[in-house]
Amino acid sequence: MQILITGTSRGLGSELAAYYLNSGHEVYGISRNSNGELDKHPRFRFISQDLSKFDEITSNLPGLLKDAGRFDLVVLNAAMLSQIKDLKDTGLDEIQKVMDINVWSNKILIDLLIFQEEPPKQIAAISSGASVYGNRGWNAYSLSKAALNMLIKLYAGEQENIHFCSIAPGLIDTEMQEYIFSLPDDPKFPSIIRLKKAKATGEMPSPEEAARILAGALKKALKEESGSYLDVRDF
Ligand SMILES: NC(=O)c1ccc[n+]([C@@H]2O[C@H](COP(=O)([O-])OP(=O)(O)OC[C@H]3O[C@@H](n4cnc5c(N)ncnc54)[C@H](OP(=O)(O)O)[C@@H]3O)[C@@H](O)[C@H]2O)c1
Repeated sequence: MQILITGTSRGLGSELAAYYLNSGHEVYGISRNSNGELDKHPRFRFISQDLSKFDEITSNLPGLLKDAGRFDLVVLNAAMLSQIKDLKDTGLDEIQKVMDINVWSNKILIDLLIFQEEPPKQIAAISSGASVYGNRGWNAYSLSKAALNMLIKLYAGEQENIHFCSIAPGLIDTEMQEYIFSLPDDPKFPSIIRLKKAKATGEMPSPEEAARILAGALKKALKEESGSYLDVRDF
């Protein structure tokens, strides 16, 4: 298979790329920073791109992907977390920054990919339980992942030949969680305490284990209705 993954410099995206490379597939990775281990692999192609720079994506990416041929799978994984605080304390500028990476860069990528001569067979956007839980403090991140779920559902209705899903990967012990671990316990935000308790338990696997689980779920996702919001913990 030929696979495109965003956010391959670290965390889930890096381990997912490694998983597919080790399974014999070709992987294109996009992030700002490279990943030394993946770069050594002969079937890995790295594209350095800041996904908040929309004009650059539109002008650079078609050229960089022109030799790629058809993608069997695209995993829109790159994302950023917002600061844990109340929505009333969160400015529109902060929300916009998170929406740009977590939602709008994915729209730009999808638009480029669906207009390719041979559009991808499957597009999966990495969502989060935060898209539906509405836990206090998750402001811009929750908003962005909820919007991402709907973005994917809408594209699924338009593009009948591509299988779309948004999928929550469960908790993963990555740099994204490091920020949560660094916060003081605050009864106002019970999810901080819950996530700290989940660290080093089966509830929060390593990125390597999470990538293996996600890859299995992405295969099974093809049997679900296109545009669905899925959670790996339900498979
Ligand atoms: N960790 C969890 O517990 C958890 C739970 C639910 C859902 N998720 C979701 O799972 C996915 C992966 O999360 P993770 O924990 O692996 O996060 P992570 O360790 O913070 O990695 C995020 C990745 O996104 C890339 N990225 C961020 N901003 C970017 C930008 N402006 N341009 C290009 N790439 C950018 C980063 O690369 P560069 O910095 O090199 O650009 C990095 O490779 C995300 O969609 C996240 O929302 C994670």
